[in-house]
Amino acid sequence: MDFVTMLLVLPFVFLTGFYVLRSKNSKLPPGPYPFPIIGNLLQLGRNPHISLAKLSKTYGPLMYLKLGSLKTIVVSSPDMAKEVLQKHDQAFTGRFIPVAAEALDHHKLCIAYLPVGNEWRKYRKICREQMFSTSRLDASQGLRQEKLEKLCEYVRKCAVSGRVVNIGEAAYTTTLNLMSATLFSTEFAQFDSDAVQEMKLVIGGYLRVIAIPNLADFFPALKMIDPQGIKKESEIYTAKMLSMLDDIINQRVKSRDDDHSSRNDDLLEVLLNPTQGNDDYDLTREDIKHFLTDLLIGGTDTSADLVEWGMTELLRNPNKMSKAKDELRVVIGENNRIKESDISRLPYLQAVMKENLRLHPVVPLLVPKKTEVDVEINGYMIPKNAQLVINAWAIGKDPSIWSNSDSFEPERFLNNKIDYKGQDFELIPFGSGRRICPGLPLASRMSHLMLASLIHNFNWKLEPGVKPEELDTNEKFGLTLHKVVPLKAVPIIL
Ligand code: HEM
Repeated sequence: MDFVTMLLVLPFVFLTGFYVLRSKNSKLPPGPYPFPIIGNLLQLGRNPHISLAKLSKTYGPLMYLKLGSLKTIVVSSPDMAKEVLQKHDQAFTGRFIPVAAEALDHHKLCIAYLPVGNEWRKYRKICREQMFSTSRLDASQGLRQEKLEKLCEYVRKCAVSGRVVNIGEAAYTTTLNLMSATLFSTEFAQFDSDAVQEMKLVIGGYLRVIAIPNLADFFPALKMIDPQGIKKESEIYTAKMLSMLDDIINQRVKSRDDDHSSRNDDLLEVLLNPTQGNDDYDLTREDIKHFLTDLLIGGTDTSADLVEWGMTELLRNPNKMSKAKDELRVVIGENNRIKESDISRLPYLQAVMKENLRLHPVVPLLVPKKTEVDVEINGYMIPKNAQLVINAWAIGKDPSIWSNSDSFEPERFLNNKIDYKGQDFELIPFGSGRRICPGLPLASRMSHLMLASLIHNFNWKLEPGVKPEELDTNEKFGLTLHKVVPLKAVPIIL
């Protein structure tokens, strides 16, 4: 080949090589063919966690979908979850921000949507060291014990009058009160009360609004129009919530000014009174309000739904209920109240909760993340700014990981070390990695204690004509996984 021919051929060879390499590296993960404009939106259905689990059987554990114009990556196996949350976690730390969370710029000030950076680290440090540390939660456990007594009192009254208890409602009221006791030593809601329970209504309204699928999330061009009015409604609830939190903080500051020696064991005290000399904990009033909003939103529905699902499974499986009650009777004693410090002595109760979280991860797709950069995983290109969804529900139901995967069998957790704290990717209802749920220690205490109090202090019978095996377990997808048919049962005093 003469020199001139070589000059003509070489660029061609380089360019071909470059394009071959580039197209290999830019191959997207497999996925269903997207329709023009709407992409794969229609394939999500009413229960996206179930539809995505079915699709992953065809397209594999790393899947690509187009939701409107939103590029979406779906992960559906423990190995792939480990790959994105552990090996490549740097690339997946950002959050996909729904338009509803942008109301009043909440996303710019709150722990759940801040990018990983100094501000976000500050909040995580406060959670880890000051709010949800073992010593801090131990200090506030008396506040929660009091609220549990109220739950038992309410159920006792229903038992005396033969009334049915709506378990989800009772668990929601209790969780709200456990959260408000832990955060600010107050009570937001009362059982069976028609009195205006404003905070309960506001939190419920906010949770409802941000769970509605929003066209503006899938077609960012619609953001300005807000076609479903979701952002507007979210602004109303966010404003109300911030203003109520403002009132709570004002009252606290005033009572401290009136009596300098007064101190509460709650978490607001920690936020208003940072450890001396530790600037890391300094937060403005605005910061505190947005932080508390996230904790209330993150902690309330989740823990309440988990307790309702736990009771559903125990009532559907009377022999498991008997085992859990027997353990409580032996370890706690017939007439004694269960305390948070007892949980570690109740292995069967812990196994019940793990099995409950496996079958009913109440945040089934975790909280969607966003890719910060282009990243290659298993030979596929994951593009920058794609939404990353991890289907914890599909992982929990995978028959190649769990034998009898649809059955409620707490025993499977008795002789193995798998836990939900983020190290075992087969069970990640609280997520894993840097953005793992910071409220996990509190959620774990609250849900074990609520479930144990309901089963240790009462026997339960189903409404006339309902057989245990017929109890409905259909799920309704939202911010959390609700039951389609609320669980109702009649308590009997032991
Ligand atoms: C059963 C109860 C709960 C479940 C199943 C749950 C689940 C989750 C999940 C899956 C995430 C996302 C993790 C990830 O991105 O990998 C999360 C984040 C979060 N959770 Fe929870 N959670 C629960 C209770 C709580 C409680 C009680 C609080 C607070 C008191 C809380 C506060 C938060 C916050 C603030 C975040 C955002 C963290 C961040 O982005 O850095 N959660 N939770």
